Amino acid sequence: MIETNTSTLILEALTREIERVHSGEAPAAVGKSVRAADVRAHLSRYDFAGPVPLPDLFADVTRMMREWNLQMNHPRYMGLFNPNTTLASVIADALVALYNPQLAAWSHAPAANEMERHVLEFVGRKLGLPEENFAAHFTSGGSDANLTAALVALAKQFPAYLRKGLVNLGTQPVMYVSAYAHNSFDKIVKHLGLGTDALRVIPANENLQLDAAALRKQIDLDRQKGCTPFMVVGTAGTTSAGIVDPLPELADLCRESDCWFHVDAAWGGAIVLSEKWKGLVRGIEQADSVTIDAHKWFFVPFGAGMFFCRHKDVAENTFSVRADYMPKPQDDTYDPYHTSLQWTRRFMGLKLFMTLAEKGEGGFSRLLDDQMELGAYFREQLTRHGWKLVNPTQLPVFCFTHPLIEGGAVSTDQILKTLYADGNLWISAVTLKNGHKAFRACLTNYNTDREDLDFILAELNRIIGQ
Ligand SMILES: Cc1ncc(COP(=O)(O)O)c(C=O)c1O
Repeated sequence: MIETNTSTLILEALTREIERVHSGEAPAAVGKSVRAADVRAHLSRYDFAGPVPLPDLFADVTRMMREWNLQMNHPRYMGLFNPNTTLASVIADALVALYNPQLAAWSHAPAANEMERHVLEFVGRKLGLPEENFAAHFTSGGSDANLTAALVALAKQFPAYLRKGLVNLGTQPVMYVSAYAHNSFDKIVKHLGLGTDALRVIPANENLQLDAAALRKQIDLDRQKGCTPFMVVGTAGTTSAGIVDPLPELADLCRESDCWFHVDAAWGGAIVLSEKWKGLVRGIEQADSVTIDAHKWFFVPFGAGMFFCRHKDVAENTFSVRADYMPKPQDDTYDPYHTSLQWTRRFMGLKLFMTLAEKGEGGFSRLLDDQMELGAYFREQLTRHGWKLVNPTQLPVFCFTHPLIEGGAVSTDQILKTLYADGNLWISAVTLKNGHKAFRACLTNYNTDREDLDFILAELNRIIGQ
């Protein structure tokens, strides 16, 4: 007879919970609104004065996780690039917590470091970056990878920067992003000491893409003013509208104007794994650096960003430090604390390694192709039912409005309020810089199917009264 002690019971309960979430069966609601006061009142029972038995704790915490968070595993959560996670990635994260390898130094975690290197090289090849002088590492997320890119770009473009600092450059470095770039760049210029005046926000064209002609003009103007343009950011899958900037044009412009070309493909970058659709991000292979979040369209848990770069020498020079208390690397290895912003860190890469290994390249690419096909279906249905799409992209982010909303009969916010109160689905709203206020929905769950999309559309039609 198996002895059922507490740990067996709790592990069985955990397995049941994982099975429940991964059964594909939708939770009752995507999420109901809750007041902070109610959550806090509940938490007041945890005064940490005495122990709480683990089974009780497990039951209470899982209940809070189910009821008081939006459920990313709900097929009608069509949210902000937050994925339903693969079973392989959940198991990977549990193994990481269990063994807790320390990735600062290679010699502490050869298996973990090499698995990360292996999977990053695979994605790097898919991006089309050259193998020679290739550098890549995991980051906490896309913001962190973008910050890394800006730092390495400064080091490359201003050789004195690493030693003398910004104040001694004798020029104002400037960075260019589109009006739809992720707002992490607003923080990055502050973080790096460049200041927000160093960030040029280039208007978008009528397709919501960075306007390359306007960018060229601004670069010329800045040079005339004595500033030094050093970095251009193109986005492959903008946060609000899933738009891909004209990457080949930006690459040419960067070459001509001696700027570092960074592609923020935090969400859209996964598409390089689809033979059928990778052309949508053509030009990414010319980037000096690329950001991709595994924790977005690769369906793995937070946090797992990735930084890719074609200038390993510069990246190493940027981050290398001497610390004689750290173990020494072997000749043909590297220590991540030497080659990235981070020091002690979690084995973030296992969840991507196991997800890709378990599905295989073909399986993963089919998953993306299914999402693209589902996206085309949803666009078609929206249009057929009188909704108006306002973001010209083939990637599965949908920004849409309705003549009744445009005419003022009902507002986007009123409709969202009803939807959130019902808790049957979750979409959001964006105000695009071209003045359109629109709903924003995104496919983030590999379990979402046509029935879910039909349901969402029916709900929208019902509320709008058609
Ligand atoms: C295009 C883009 N870049 C960067 C980020 C920031 O990524 P993270 O939230 O992982 O820091 C996001 C987040 O949604 C994004 O959409």
